[in-house]
Amino acid sequence: MAAKRQNIDLLIGIAIGLAFSASTISLVNRFTSWLGRRKEEDIVDGVPGLIGNTPLLRIKSLSDALGVDILGKAEFLNPGGSVKDRVAMKIIDDAEASGYLKPGIGSRIFEGTVGSTGISIATLAAARGYNTTIIMPDDVAAEKALALRALGADVEKVRPASIVDKKQFVNLAKSKAAAYGTNARSLPGLDGVVSSDQDLDAKDQPRGFFADQFENRSNFEAHYQGTGPEIWRQSGCKVDAFVSGAGTGGTIAGAGQYLREKNPKIIVVLSDPEGSGLYNKVKHGVMFDAKESEGRKRRHQVDTVVEGIGINRLTKNFEYALPIIDDAIRVSDVEAVSMSRFIVKNDACNLVAAVKVAKRLPRSGRVVTILCDSGSRHYSKFWNDEYLEAAGIRVDISLTEDLLKQNTIQSTSK
Ligand SMILES: *[C@@H]1O[C@H](CO)[C@@H](O)[C@H](O)[C@H]1NC(C)=O
Ligand SMILES: *[C@@H]1O[C@H](CO)[C@@H](O)[C@H](O)[C@H]1NC(C)=O
Repeated sequence: MAAKRQNIDLLIGIAIGLAFSASTISLVNRFTSWLGRRKEEDIVDGVPGLIGNTPLLRIKSLSDALGVDILGKAEFLNPGGSVKDRVAMKIIDDAEASGYLKPGIGSRIFEGTVGSTGISIATLAAARGYNTTIIMPDDVAAEKALALRALGADVEKVRPASIVDKKQFVNLAKSKAAAYGTNARSLPGLDGVVSSDQDLDAKDQPRGFFADQFENRSNFEAHYQGTGPEIWRQSGCKVDAFVSGAGTGGTIAGAGQYLREKNPKIIVVLSDPEGSGLYNKVKHGVMFDAKESEGRKRRHQVDTVVEGIGINRLTKNFEYALPIIDDAIRVSDVEAVSMSRFIVKNDACNLVAAVKVAKRLPRSGRVVTILCDSGSRHYSKFWNDEYLEAAGIRVDISLTEDLLKQNTIQSTSK
């Protein structure tokens, strides 16, 4: 009895000792962190401080079903709600560094975008002292224009036109940027569109700046310097495959290139929606797509409800990706919609491709992909069952359940 009592006393003593030393350590920690306050405090500097360093999320339902980790970079947690915050910030940073933009003198940023880039540019531009004009085709989901205007951007909607047309939205953004500012002059053949000499000597003059996310290398660099290194660090340097869609191509090029340099064995796979030419470019070296050529276009850019990825021309940023892409997977609207209803999240296109890649990997393999933005920008199309039905796209969750089931059968029979 006494021995037992002694033991208990001893245990209590150890516990108190531990608690005391723990509180001492915590006091010492607090003191040293107070000393090094500037470095240790978790305070970020303005909106730009919120961009990047997003968590790498293990998608439990898919990973458990497959026995292969499907990790998603939670880019929807960026302040502007998407991966494009990184691109917008890098474009503005680089433009300031090279003298194209100077805050607070009335300069205006122009971009032609159907995707989330406009929202990211508008969010950052206002914080950095610029006005923004976003030009978009008039068939884009309505909530995008609403969000842009709420952020203070001027939105111009234009009729869908081919990229070779001067009135196409990206071309218009370019010419309007050139027309803005002090030394604007008329451009022949374009009603009301003028151009200014982008004279860098006149640094203190307000100017228009064309963000040009499709062609500008700042886009690639945002992912090569940010997204890629973050994935590598957060995964503990263990990645077997990287899956990404491409709109501009910046993510798959920049993050893909970084990961490939870190480990040449990493498979880089493009996830591409119906109607985009990139799948064919990767698989067969040409952008040709049967559906487009038959003239069955449902909407102006790419014939899919998965807005923001897929494209029918070769951009500079996608060109940077071509040498490192190992494979492409075509994801149909029906597959993407099914996956989205399965996981009740967006980024269904990337996840369908990620699951297909995972099924080629041994158990405990690891696929990383990008969760580009949250579903909230796609209510009127992607999340609208009536719209999908009218467009002939089946909403069928069992498709995804089957995709995961097939794998279980396959791997248990091994
Ligand atoms: C990208 O933007 C920078 C300004 O930051 C500019 O100097 C450069 O010419 C642009 N590059 C391309 C390819 O458009
Ligand atoms: C944006 O333009 C308006 C005029 O349309 C001006 O009052 C405002 O100061 C501008 N904002 C910035 C950040 O330049």
